[in-house]
Amino acid sequence: MKSIIVYFSLEGNTEYIADELTKALSADKLKLVPKKAYSTSGFSKFFWGGKSAVMAEKPELEPYDVDLSAYDQVVFGFPVWAGTFTPPLRTFILENKEGLKNKKIAAFACQSGAGAERAFAKLGECIGIDSFAATAIFIDPKDKPSEENTHKIGDFCKNLQ
Ligand SMILES: Cc1cc2nc3c(=O)[nH]c(=O)nc-3n(C[C@H](O)[C@H](O)[C@H](O)COP(=O)(O)O)c2cc1C
Repeated sequence: MKSIIVYFSLEGNTEYIADELTKALSADKLKLVPKKAYSTSGFSKFFWGGKSAVMAEKPELEPYDVDLSAYDQVVFGFPVWAGTFTPPLRTFILENKEGLKNKKIAAFACQSGAGAERAFAKLGECIGIDSFAATAIFIDPKDKPSEENTHKIGDFCKNLQ
């Protein structure tokens, strides 16, 4: 099974898990980068990021090069923002509707508190699927490496072998 990890990360947590999954699944990875960067500091970070998520924005992305026909599985990774998935994924999904058809799709979310389950439901709606092959939730994993996270990564990957 050939996999690609498609993710957005503002502050490195999602990227940390994306890197672990890339190794564990011998996958490729694609980082989504919005043309207009989100702020990483203070009030602006929560205000503009939160607004973008709540308004279901579709931010323009920096050019990326991917041929989804080369993959059996697509794993989406994102930080939870305002109880939903982050907007750069929406842009990617809308730009790749055809390429995502008939793929095995999994998703993982990073959060500091709650909202990931709702975010998975919203992401599934956006892709047009009823369920994911696997999901996993991590709490700010880059700052709190733990055995629990190692197990979660292992369980997640078992469903994708
Ligand atoms: C704009 C914004 C909104 C957020 N909203 C939530 C939320 O609704 N629930 C939650 O648990 N964490 C929320 N967080 C925290 C992040 O989801 C969490 O810190 C995540 O691990 C960050 O991943 P990253 O380092 O890949 O960006 C929010 C963070 C930002 C910047």
